[in-house]
Amino acid sequence: MKILAINGSPRTLRSTTRQLAQYVLDGAAEAGAETEMIDLCDLKITPCTACEGCLFNGICVFDDDMPALVERMKEADGIVFASPVYIDNVSGQMKIFFDRLADAIHYQVLAGKYGCSVVSTHTSGGDEVVAYQNHVLNYLAVVSVGGISVATGGDSFAVEAKEADARALGGRKLVDAITNGFSNAKQEAEIADNREFFKDIVVENRDMRTEEYERWARLGWIK
Ligand SMILES: Cc1cc2nc3c(=O)[nH]c(=O)nc-3n(C[C@H](O)[C@H](O)[C@H](O)COP(=O)(O)O)c2cc1C
Repeated sequence: MKILAINGSPRTLRSTTRQLAQYVLDGAAEAGAETEMIDLCDLKITPCTACEGCLFNGICVFDDDMPALVERMKEADGIVFASPVYIDNVSGQMKIFFDRLADAIHYQVLAGKYGCSVVSTHTSGGDEVVAYQNHVLNYLAVVSVGGISVATGGDSFAVEAKEADARALGGRKLVDAITNGFSNAKQEAEIADNREFFKDIVVENRDMRTEEYERWARLGWIK
């Protein structure tokens, strides 16, 4: 079982968000998972320019690290989104990454996985950004098992104080959901509604995206 954390802080090893996400991964590793942390700032991910080029074949006009990252996400059983709060939202790095997930969202290529969200902030926006990242997971048809945010107030020990909770999120919750399943009626209803909406796109583009159309038909998502 593989759990992949994607960290949107540009502060790499000094990042408190990364430290919190690492506790989540440590909890997952303790429960038997193979884990990996990816720092978005180490990758080249070009902002989406809305050229709609990916509509035709799923391939972005920009030759960068995003396709390989989506492949890593496909290989993972669990996905952890981790971001600091920047002006009451995710960091720019995280948002650029999210925008580039539009095709993965439309074609629901990560459906059936589980995830969770991790956020650190000085004061504001922690819970809201956890909710936003979980919402993005749901857009991807990934069911979230929860999230954790820490408002440090500038105190570096505030993250350490949350270690046990973060480890439980990765181990007892995320690994357990992957192993035994996890159901959440509200998220499942939202995912079903989204799939109904995206179905029109998949049907409309069936001549250009035949493989995806056939995958949806095989999965019974198109009747
Ligand atoms: C550009 C920028 C914007 C920020 N915006 C907020 C904010 O709106 N609210 C807040 O409480 N903290 C804000 N912060 C503080 C960070 O959220 C906080 O220091 C966080 O723990 C940093 O995480 P990191 O060490 O993983 O990068 C901001 C920091 C930066 C650099």
